[in-house]
Amino acid sequence: MNFMAALNEVASKNLCVLEEQIRESISEDTFIFEACAPLFKGGKRLRPMLFLLCANSKNDFPQKKSMPLAVALELIHTASLVHDDIIDSSKKRRGVETSNSKYGAQIAVLIGDYLFAKAFQLVAENNYGAEVSSTLSKLVKNLCVGEIMQDRSLYEVPTLGEYYTRINLKTAIFLSSCCRLGAIVSEMDKREVENLTAYGTNLGLAFQIIDDLLDFFGDEKITGKPRGGDLKSGVITLPVIRALEVSDEAPTLRKIVTSGKDVDAAIKIIQATDAVDYCRTRAEAHIESARVNLPLTLKTSVALALEQVADFIVDRTR
Ligand code: IPE
Ligand code: IPE
Ligand code: MG
Ligand code: MG
Repeated sequence: MNFMAALNEVASKNLCVLEEQIRESISEDTFIFEACAPLFKGGKRLRPMLFLLCANSKNDFPQKKSMPLAVALELIHTASLVHDDIIDSSKKRRGVETSNSKYGAQIAVLIGDYLFAKAFQLVAENNYGAEVSSTLSKLVKNLCVGEIMQDRSLYEVPTLGEYYTRINLKTAIFLSSCCRLGAIVSEMDKREVENLTAYGTNLGLAFQIIDDLLDFFGDEKITGKPRGGDLKSGVITLPVIRALEVSDEAPTLRKIVTSGKDVDAAIKIIQATDAVDYCRTRAEAHIESARVNLPLTLKTSVALALEQVADFIVDRTR
């Protein structure tokens, strides 16, 4: 069940059509359909829903015109997850076996490539114009740079600034681009475009901070992905950065996180500090900034839905 389904009329009006068209987009090839259909049964659809909400935030925007781009955003996101799971050697995603685990990395790379290509085909065939294509290309480039940056510094403790650069590139720019694209296609003025972009950026930063907390403390059955994966694969995130600053057991924790062994001991050390509260407080501050950036010119119902999305992000368990 999608978390936005009951949220507001924009979301519920679009959700069924979105699902239908995602299915259609992977139906051209039998193997692609077999490999991807189970993966698309899970997932929150946050990115297409943000786009659709923003596109409808002042006036109603024709569904026929918005839907191919909404589908493209979910395909790009899913492609990035397929590749991310190869990089992280992850075995589970959205509650099902990952493509790399099922078919091996070689085929999984190509499944991800296929989804990227299909997304750009949808965009090219629906005449969104150069600004939309350029925004999409830039978000994918940034995501790659963020993932590369992370992969080149595994088992190294990042500074707070380095952590923020990485989560901005790999996650926040994607969410902000979804909002920006909604504002662009519905021809909002420059100021509104920038404000919705800033809303999305802050949402995205909070989103990844909470994701990094869930990696330690989430319930696998709810998140649909393995717990402790970040530490095991050498990805050092905010809870660790904070705990290393304040814990009496910082030297032990440093040893664990720079070797990726004994994740349970690391979790205990982190839990004995204020790291969880610290991360939540930071995420909440970004959510507050997101809210402050919502343009006052939006329809009340959509503004409310965008505020609810923001609240969901800090309270989410999946
Ligand atoms: C997972 O994103 C990748 C991150 C940026 C943390 P989501 O948590 O939105 O994944 P799905 O789409 O719901 O599976
Ligand atoms: C975001 O980071 C992944 C992408 C940008 C594709 P994570 O590595 O934390 O995402 P999960 O936790 O695997 O979903
Ligand atoms: Mg990952
Ligand atoms: Mg994660």
